[in-house]
Amino acid sequence: MHTIRPLIIAGLMASSWLASGAALAAEALKSDRAVSADKVGGKVMKSVKVAPKDPAAIAAADIALGKKVYSQRCGACHDAEENRIGPLHKDLFGRRVGSIADYTYYSQGMRRSELVWDAQLLDKWLTNQEAVVPGQRMNYPIAEAEDRRLIIAYLRSQSPDAPAEAPATANAASAAAPAR
Ligand code: HEC
Repeated sequence: MHTIRPLIIAGLMASSWLASGAALAAEALKSDRAVSADKVGGKVMKSVKVAPKDPAAIAAADIALGKKVYSQRCGACHDAEENRIGPLHKDLFGRRVGSIADYTYYSQGMRRSELVWDAQLLDKWLTNQEAVVPGQRMNYPIAEAEDRRLIIAYLRSQSPDAPAEAPATANAASAAAPAR
């Protein structure tokens, strides 16, 4: 008993440290400190050199980091280009929820939803799917805000034709209307 307990505690500490790896890496990118190696999702990543505080470089670094977080945390079920267990993510922004025609595994709630994907809705979805569409079939919450932000930056980059502004009005109207 006495020897097992510290191991469990060490294990818990290690896993929470790994979970915050993406956040640390992203913070480091924005600071003046040089980044040599960082851990995202438990994997050591190569150094990323950016001019500190250059918004375009920061955005590009977020997308690159977001792509890695996406492939680690979403890649088992999703791909940008093709339907897998979950629907494809190309051109997600500006697309109505549950609207990929040849994806056959949507829940009824997703299919019927009139919400439109934007950064805000995605953040809500990734935090708690059930709160956005009750009865959904994803059930994979991402607790770390920084991981959600990076994933969203990557997914935004996969929607090159979406308008710059979020379709907040459609979602606000839909949220105001009672569910049918
Ligand atoms: C265990 C498998 C699984 C994982 C992991 C997973 N998803 Fe999903 N995802 C699904 C399924 C299944 C659906 C369809 C849900 C439904 O119709 O109720 C879905 C639906 C979605 C949708 C809605 C797409 C649309 O066409 O409306 C988005 C957005 C999404 N997932 C994003 C993500 C992101 C980002 C991640 C990684 C953080 C992720 N998912 C991880 C299985 C998964």
